[in-house]
Amino acid sequence: MKSKRSMKKVFIRTFGCQMNEYDSERMLALLKGEYIPCREPKEADLILVNTCSVRKKAEEKVYGLVGRLKHLKRTRPEVIIGVCGCVAQQEGEQLLKRLPHVDLVLGPQAVYRLPEALEKIARGKGPVVDTRFHKDFRQPLILPELNGDRPVKAFVTIMQGCDNFCTYCVVPYTRGREISRPPEDILAEVECLVRQGVREITLLGQNVNSYGRKEKGFPSFAELLREVASVPGLWRLRFTTSHPKDLDEDLMRCFAEVPELCEHLHLPVQAGSNRVLKRMHRRYTREEYLSRVKKLREISPEIALTTDIIVGFPGETEEDFEQTLTLLEEVRFDEIFSFKYSNRPLARSTAFEDKVPEEEKARRLARVHALQDRITREINESYLGKVVEVLVEGKSPGNPALWTGRTRTNHVVNFSGPHGLKGKLVRVLIEDCGQHSLRGRVENSQ
Ligand code: SAH
Ligand code: SF4
Ligand code: F3S
Repeated sequence: MKSKRSMKKVFIRTFGCQMNEYDSERMLALLKGEYIPCREPKEADLILVNTCSVRKKAEEKVYGLVGRLKHLKRTRPEVIIGVCGCVAQQEGEQLLKRLPHVDLVLGPQAVYRLPEALEKIARGKGPVVDTRFHKDFRQPLILPELNGDRPVKAFVTIMQGCDNFCTYCVVPYTRGREISRPPEDILAEVECLVRQGVREITLLGQNVNSYGRKEKGFPSFAELLREVASVPGLWRLRFTTSHPKDLDEDLMRCFAEVPELCEHLHLPVQAGSNRVLKRMHRRYTREEYLSRVKKLREISPEIALTTDIIVGFPGETEEDFEQTLTLLEEVRFDEIFSFKYSNRPLARSTAFEDKVPEEEKARRLARVHALQDRITREINESYLGKVVEVLVEGKSPGNPALWTGRTRTNHVVNFSGPHGLKGKLVRVLIEDCGQHSLRGRVENSQ
């Protein structure tokens, strides 16, 4: 390893989902020994932008940021600029036409070949475009090494890609077909993180409940959950994202039977109208979704649910939209992530003709927000006076006099308490709440 002084500097900026965050960490781990991270692009020898193209806005941000790096490249031509992730996959070579100052285009499944690509560029063989998909998930296992400010929680990717082809979605094209990671690699990574003090793991994939279905001899997702939960020293386990069509009873029962599994499920519904769900190719009906929610609540009455909603999908009428509102009323999600529909290249719905006007989408989004704000507030108020278990993540970013952490139901709690609570499980009395968080004081620590 080189001395810190002689090491080059890397700046990395991550957009998009947790899988991208995970990939960015892997890239930094691959560069260890050659590069140290820095805070500003202007200090960097290597700039990596890990991109998202799930909605138009996300993609535009990338072009804005990478476009602005042109000046930097002009004054310091030796700086290497890389675009990674989903926009890289979607655009491939084309990206170099639009952004000729880019040296490297790396798709999400190619991030593991970053060192190879950098070596090529160093030999004058750039620019490099690598958007190859691989057939299995057996790239070298890079065990994470946590330094300095050790995190209490971490993500572990268990599968890549998606086979669902919802008509609005770009992910199957940018992340490729579903492939599951060998269970022994997942367990080795979880054990390594826990040895370093991580107490909460979130297993990641675009559709985790189809884990292992295509691979011979792999456990089911429910079996994998039970195995991961039994790693000694792991206190909390979560996973995301689940597709409602694949949520079976075996998995639901884990919420009652696996003590480490936290009572929270993100279950994207997208829309409340069967007509819209059908055109989205979601492959469940409103009734099926609601019956799964009912079953889940029978098995785990405390479970908190969150969801994703798209408003203004092509052809969504006022009546269809009203059904999204009634579904929100009926389920009473703890939190939702709602988006205006946007056309994505390659997604089938881009060719649908009956687009909803922009102002109408904005109006529907505002109605969804108003309704959900009320429901979230009511749910938050129901915590007042209760004592909840919180895993302490550190000081609250908004107020360093307070600690911050989450309940098992994934609600953020900011609270007062004695020194040295980071990484501990504490019981917190909830005394106040806002729209996005609960507030309280510690009762006692374990
Ligand atoms: N795999 C997950 C999430 C995928 S992307 C799932 O199946 O639910 C995250 C969210 O972005 C989606 O749930 C959807 O609500 C939203 N989204 C995806 N494509 C979109 C588009 N073209 N326009 C608006 N929102 C979109
Ligand atoms: Fe996209 Fe649908 Fe796959 Fe989720 S399940 S990533 S929304 S295609
Ligand atoms: Fe975005 Fe790709 Fe994730 S499109 S949401 S970064 S899978």
